[in-house]
Amino acid sequence: MKLTLLSLGLLSSAFAVAPISTAQQATQASPYVPNAYIIELSGSGAVARRSLSPVYDVMRKQAIEFSIDQEYDAPDILIGAAIRLSDVAKLSEIPGVQAIRPIKRPVSLLVVKDPKASGLPDTYSTHVMTGVDKVHAQGNFGAGIKIGIIDTGIDYTHPLLGQGFGPGFKVIGGWDFVGNNYNGEDTPQPNYDPLDQCNGHGTHVAGIIGASPNNTFGISGVASDASLAAYRIFGCTGFTTDDIITAALIMAYNQKMDILTLSLGGASGWTEGTSSVVASRIAAQGRVVTVAAGNNGAEGAWYTSDPGGGLGVISVASVDNIASPVQNATVEGTYFMPFPLNVTGAMPIYATSTNTSQVDDACNPLPDSTPDLSGYIVVVHRGTCLFTQKLANIAAKGGKVMLIYNSDTGGFSAIAVGGYKAVLISAEDGKFVIDRLRTWQLVQQFIDKSKITVSFPQSGGAFSIPNPSGGLISSFSTIGPTFDMQLSPALAAPGGNILSTFPLALGGYAIESGTSMATPFAAGAAALILKALGTGPAVGAAVPRILQTTAASVASTHTDGEPLQTVAQQGAGLVQVDRAVNMKTIVSPGQLALNDTANFKANHTISITNTGNKTVTYQLLHVPALTVGTVSVSTSLRAWTNAHNVPSVIPAAATIAFSGSNVTVHPGTTKEVVATITPPPGVNTTFPLYSGFIHVVAPNETLKVTYLGVAASLIAAPVLDSTSNYFGIPLPTLIDASGRPQEGPENYTFTSSDFPFFLFRLAFGTPKLRFDLVSKDIALTPTIPSKRSAFTWWWTQNAAATFGQIKTIGPLVEFDYQPRSTDDPLSGYGTAGFSGTFANGTRIDDGQYRVLLRALKIGGNPNKEGDYESWLSPQFGVIAPP
Ligand SMILES: *[C@@H]1O[C@H](CO)[C@@H](O)[C@H](O)[C@H]1NC(C)=O
Ligand SMILES: *[C@@H]1O[C@H](CO)[C@@H](O)[C@H](O)[C@H]1NC(C)=O
Ligand SMILES: *[C@@H]1O[C@H](CO)[C@@H](O)[C@H](O)[C@H]1NC(C)=O
Ligand SMILES: *[C@@H]1O[C@H](CO)[C@@H](O)[C@H](O)[C@H]1NC(C)=O
Ligand SMILES: *[C@@H]1O[C@H](CO)[C@@H](O)[C@H](O)[C@H]1NC(C)=O
Ligand SMILES: *[C@@H]1O[C@H](CO)[C@@H](O)[C@H](O)[C@H]1NC(C)=O
Ligand SMILES: *[C@@H]1O[C@H](CO)[C@@H](O)[C@H](O)[C@H]1NC(C)=O
Ligand SMILES: *[C@@H]1O[C@H](CO)[C@@H](O)[C@H](O)[C@H]1NC(C)=O
Ligand SMILES: *[C@@H]1O[C@H](CO)[C@@H](O)[C@H](O)[C@H]1NC(C)=O
Ligand SMILES: *[C@@H]1O[C@H](CO)[C@@H](O)[C@H](O)[C@H]1NC(C)=O
Repeated sequence: MKLTLLSLGLLSSAFAVAPISTAQQATQASPYVPNAYIIELSGSGAVARRSLSPVYDVMRKQAIEFSIDQEYDAPDILIGAAIRLSDVAKLSEIPGVQAIRPIKRPVSLLVVKDPKASGLPDTYSTHVMTGVDKVHAQGNFGAGIKIGIIDTGIDYTHPLLGQGFGPGFKVIGGWDFVGNNYNGEDTPQPNYDPLDQCNGHGTHVAGIIGASPNNTFGISGVASDASLAAYRIFGCTGFTTDDIITAALIMAYNQKMDILTLSLGGASGWTEGTSSVVASRIAAQGRVVTVAAGNNGAEGAWYTSDPGGGLGVISVASVDNIASPVQNATVEGTYFMPFPLNVTGAMPIYATSTNTSQVDDACNPLPDSTPDLSGYIVVVHRGTCLFTQKLANIAAKGGKVMLIYNSDTGGFSAIAVGGYKAVLISAEDGKFVIDRLRTWQLVQQFIDKSKITVSFPQSGGAFSIPNPSGGLISSFSTIGPTFDMQLSPALAAPGGNILSTFPLALGGYAIESGTSMATPFAAGAAALILKALGTGPAVGAAVPRILQTTAASVASTHTDGEPLQTVAQQGAGLVQVDRAVNMKTIVSPGQLALNDTANFKANHTISITNTGNKTVTYQLLHVPALTVGTVSVSTSLRAWTNAHNVPSVIPAAATIAFSGSNVTVHPGTTKEVVATITPPPGVNTTFPLYSGFIHVVAPNETLKVTYLGVAASLIAAPVLDSTSNYFGIPLPTLIDASGRPQEGPENYTFTSSDFPFFLFRLAFGTPKLRFDLVSKDIALTPTIPSKRSAFTWWWTQNAAATFGQIKTIGPLVEFDYQPRSTDDPLSGYGTAGFSGTFANGTRIDDGQYRVLLRALKIGGNPNKEGDYESWLSPQFGVIAPP
């Protein structure tokens, strides 16, 4: 039957890129929490729909075993429960259950620990970048606005965060859904107190929104007078899941938060994930929902996060700060830290290498000749391996204080140094110090015992320096749009290297980077708008448009004349809060989602309302942004080059004609203009995203409408990667129990480790990916033929039947709304475990079968067979164990 002994050795030779592991790991890679679902009750009858107990009663009567994790009670948003049970198939027969959604895992915090992007902070500088300083000058600090922070909790004992919890304090309330020990896998232990003293993420987020001014760091929140509520959904470490996010969203909604902010997410690409749907429903009720766009910029386009993809939620991209707090050290030079390194007195320097071009400095254990380093400040070059590896090698020789000098290309930004006492200094300062040391070594025979020393002034050394990438989109910031062509991210806010509050137990202050930091900034901006224009559903619903139409477009580089960054990464651009609260003109809509060529509409009406008291003539101008290739049809790989995250730029833009280019609007009236848009001509084989802005220019203010489209037809996008570019073998494929692609027929007992799994890549996302068991003799022509010669005869002899007439024996597994696979050599593929059972857990009868894999194309009709791509597995047997 099987030769399992041969297995693992063959594995690596079969796969050019990624080592694939075991079938068990394949099962664990499932995007869903096993046997966990959110059931949504149907909306018929106020009493019926509000009552879960009749549903539970029916389930008990039918002997369905289940347990309840969460219950949801928000009539406008979601009535239902998160439950666990083994046989989901039975649920569809329960009256009153309208939708059953699998629970996705895991959802993570979107903070970049070691940002590759450079970026330099100073919280005041972020306020200057965005006009928040001007709104503060008008006396608006967001007082009375309620902001629900769905995160890791808040250290409300912090002096800048009110030093208390409950009515009358800055943190007015909240709830802990999980407890300290929750890690995303174990059972949550809810309690009333959302205090964060062990994680820090939520405390950092809270400081960006609400830190009190007047402190030695010069930081303050965007809306420092707003009231905060902490909904804690992460423990001290780890992940969280959809059902808990949903519970927190609903509690924040029911507790009448004006703004809900979530600095978290998981790769999705679609607007339809469970938490996206709930967030959308809350936004549709006129609440402001800000969600991190994601930190997956390196993965290229079409990689939006859930719940950031939700319709009407404000998905927030990150812009690098224009300045950074640094400290002087006295051998000249600065190091990257908001406060002094805790080292008193001067110490001599030791360099692990005096060769300043050695990039792998201290990546290997230091030589035996190395002295005891405990009395030195050790200087080491950045490069090749993790900072912590270098620091561990130095610590192994007794080193206690380390200066890492930057490489010529590295960003000068916060770095992850683990528990070591280490800071980043600039490349110039590092070379200077090493140069001094070399000179000293040359002349030491003449100069007695004098050494080069460094000291760290404990006060008065703080200042900030300009950041070379300041004001540009952070390279880690996720690139959209969604596969249903919604603009995501919606806009951007400062998120690269932000100094904010941290739990007192963890130091009190920290610099962090990520769309996690941009998101609370946008929430604070929304609070200032609500404070200025009034709360309530109408203003809440208008906030996304107000922020978008007043945002500042972000360039792709600092070189003059370079095009604007693609809207797919910046959305409408960097929020400008002073413009948003003071505008005299309403331009609507805020964005035009131009969809793909098959769903394209050329004419779009833009309305311009003059809310001022003078007649204004507006001029309409078109300002295109970059057009970028995304995914290549021929390779199924990203066209976006990864090395420096540079998009493949296509030198063509849309053209726009206006029904009138100058429009005069009297006070209190509205006029409409029709924009007729023509997408850029040219290559459609890399699914180019084109984008830009329509400017509505008045003498005293400029507003804009942001547009984005794809110059190709998305239903033509290949979903299943059928090339061998990634693994060196054609995909999809069935991997047998020995770890090899199955070629001829094989039998499996589905006991112990004797089962196969499916290996595939998704070049584009799919709304539906399903695996069905079919007869081995099924006659159909799948869209992706097997390229393995042993089977060629079979296709040609059985190609007669059409797809729609295919009878399946039963479903094995289905994944809805799947993201694209990345090109990452370690993780850029998908697997589906196959344990010899149907989706509902019933064991498949002994016999010979194949599996039919179907992927619905983007924009495809799920009921139309022609809208699926398909692939048939080789024949395999389910046999009794010997
Ligand atoms: C901050 O300090 C200034 C000057 O010392 C003072 O006028 C102001 O009231 C303080 N603001 C707060 C919020 O404490
Ligand atoms: C600074 O370091 C010393 C010695 O390692 C330690 O005792 C002291 O608590 C530290 N101070 C701070 C503020 O971390
Ligand atoms: C830091 O050092 C630089 C250059 O040595 C000097 O110009 C600057 O004034 C110093 N800043 C502070 C705050 O000490
Ligand atoms: C684009 O068209 C597809 C197919 O009709 C549709 O499902 C999708 O919602 C459209 N997207 C937008 C932003 O209108
Ligand atoms: C779009 O607008 C242009 C110019 O106003 C007009 O000529 C054209 O007929 C319109 N097209 C459609 C499809 O409405
Ligand atoms: C018109 O608006 C300006 C400022 O926008 C204000 O100062 C002035 O009082 C207003 N005039 C009238 C008649 O409302
Ligand atoms: C529109 O207004 C601008 C600025 O006032 C002016 O330069 C331009 O000539 C006008 N265009 C038309 C077509 O009237
Ligand atoms: C533009 O600003 C100037 C100076 O603030 C003011 O005099 C003028 O009335 C403003 N124009 C409009 C249309 O608001
Ligand atoms: C690209 O354009 C060609 C020619 O117009 C068309 O046949 C093809 O379907 C297009 N492909 C996509 C992906 O839009
Ligand atoms: C699979 O099992 C069937 C039934 O036991 C047997 O006839 C067949 O030869 C086996 N095939 C392989 C490849 O072992």
